[in-house]
Amino acid sequence: MSLAIRTLSAAETEAQIPALGTLLRNCVAQGASVGFVMPFAQREAEAFWTQAVLPGLRAGDRLLWAAFDTGTLVGTVQLAFATMPNQSHRAEVSKMLVSPACRRRGIARALMQALLARAAEEGRSLITLDTRSGDAAQPLYASCGFAVAGEIPGYALAPDGSPRRDPTTVMYRSL
Ligand SMILES: CC(C)(COP(=O)(O)OP(=O)(O)OC[C@H]1O[C@@H](n2cnc3c(N)ncnc32)[C@H](O)[C@@H]1OP(=O)(O)O)[C@@H](O)C(=O)NCCC(=O)NCCS
Repeated sequence: MSLAIRTLSAAETEAQIPALGTLLRNCVAQGASVGFVMPFAQREAEAFWTQAVLPGLRAGDRLLWAAFDTGTLVGTVQLAFATMPNQSHRAEVSKMLVSPACRRRGIARALMQALLARAAEEGRSLITLDTRSGDAAQPLYASCGFAVAGEIPGYALAPDGSPRRDPTTVMYRSL
């Protein structure tokens, strides 16, 4: 594996929309709870990156990292800077995704390390996130220094389209 992790500009992200859409869709199809419910078409996945992510990248209140394995996009994560004047020290992690074929190789940990280093450089000293309780992401975040603030029951519908509502765990890390 030849792993390269870097932030993408808005223009670079635009060029990666099909790959980002495929990554998101594959993760949801494999059961990831990241905002979407099956059935979930490729065009809906691509629309998420175009409509919900690109504007923030262009505005400068969001950063996106991509992990490439020999040129192929295999992972991503974002950091959204809190914009309210009373939270200028805070930022939120979102959409940590690693290709199902490339898991347990340290890609998510490397993405998080890059994100935390940049957050510190940007003067953000409180990093928050939430994840479905009990998912693989929870031990990942714990191993990256995040502590559990608490759990919210019935937070999100299950990604498989069933009526189950899953709890989310809110976590935070000081830098
Ligand atoms: C969660 C996710 C990003 C982890 O990606 P990954 O590249 O496989 O994670 P890493 O290899 O960097 O793992 C780092 C550490 O996280 C923990 N971890 C990762 N996957 C785990 C799993 N399936 N079970 C238990 N612990 C896990 C371990 O502590 C691991 O360290 P180790 O391998 O030395 O034991 C990946 O499983 C994924 O994309 N899931 C679907 C999307 C999702 O749920 N994202 C989180 C949204 S909040």
